[in-house]
Amino acid sequence: MQTDVRPAEMARINTPELAQAFIAEQVKELRKQIGSSKVLLALSGGVDSSVVAALLIKAIGKQLTCVHVNHGLLRKGEPEQVIKVFGEELGANLIYVDATDRFLDKLAGVSDPETKRKIIGKEFIDVFAEEARKLENIKFLAQGTIYPDILESVAGVKAHHNVGGLPEDLNFELVEPVKLLYKDEVRMVGKELGLPDGMVYRQPFPGPGLGVRCPGAITRDRLEALREADAIVREEIETLPERPWQYFCVVPDFKSTGIRDGKRTFSWLCIIRAISTVDVVEVSPVHLPNELIDRMVRRITTEVPAISRVLVDYTPKPPATVEYE
Ligand code: XMP
Repeated sequence: MQTDVRPAEMARINTPELAQAFIAEQVKELRKQIGSSKVLLALSGGVDSSVVAALLIKAIGKQLTCVHVNHGLLRKGEPEQVIKVFGEELGANLIYVDATDRFLDKLAGVSDPETKRKIIGKEFIDVFAEEARKLENIKFLAQGTIYPDILESVAGVKAHHNVGGLPEDLNFELVEPVKLLYKDEVRMVGKELGLPDGMVYRQPFPGPGLGVRCPGAITRDRLEALREADAIVREEIETLPERPWQYFCVVPDFKSTGIRDGKRTFSWLCIIRAISTVDVVEVSPVHLPNELIDRMVRRITTEVPAISRVLVDYTPKPPATVEYE
């Protein structure tokens, strides 16, 4: 699979058998391409990079080194899950970098959304490059590029290199074993590789993470309140028989008056957003059941003391984007 064009005759991988056949073929191809060389992978814990990691572990085992960078903007439990699944269960060579302080120090006092995104993107490359330089004899960089990334790249919407912009001295050859697959096929392959459902069916989560859901200048206390509230929102919404396409919450830099234990408080508010969409170009709000909203309001305001008010965002896209920044 060296081409960037999906052959017309390639069957859609929609059964476990087809996924197994793909895995067997890729394991063979990867061994041929990589030989006895070493491969590096930035493992975010998202579906695409996780499936690539699992495929490579099956094909080349310890010749793969995964680097998981925790930028401090991940959701509750995410770094722990990556360490458990890849480090412990799959026995991967896993380097875990807790770069929380580094990112949050750089982001302190920065309120402009684009500047925040640039800082997060650049810092990520810097941390990853530093780890890469510590390793010897790495020849390949594996990436979780998928077919929609290639199509968008051809259409000029975005560059498809997930870890694009690495410094020139890190001149790796690319390994992109799922680059001809659509998302549903990647999930099917991930399931057959034995990855947990929580990873395989994970909702999309932006690269800058909770950073875009903590609008304005990020502070550690507001970020922590957001992370706790987000965990409650996910846990409650995941009790629905059918989950929305994406669901999360936002904690803006805004306080309102409340009452706790008979005393006046001045604390943050939390905005719940759940959406349905086909292509994320147009998005509809999901009208959640009233009892579910009541439960989330009660849990968030009792379990997260820094939040005293909860709102629900029912705005479609357009005019509103999905994320707040
Ligand atoms: P917007 O806010 O543009 O979001 O309506 C559309 C979809 O893209 C996700 N998103 C991102 N994903 N890096 C990503 O990998 C990003 O910087 C980013 N920004 C937005 C968003 O979560 C939604 O699914």
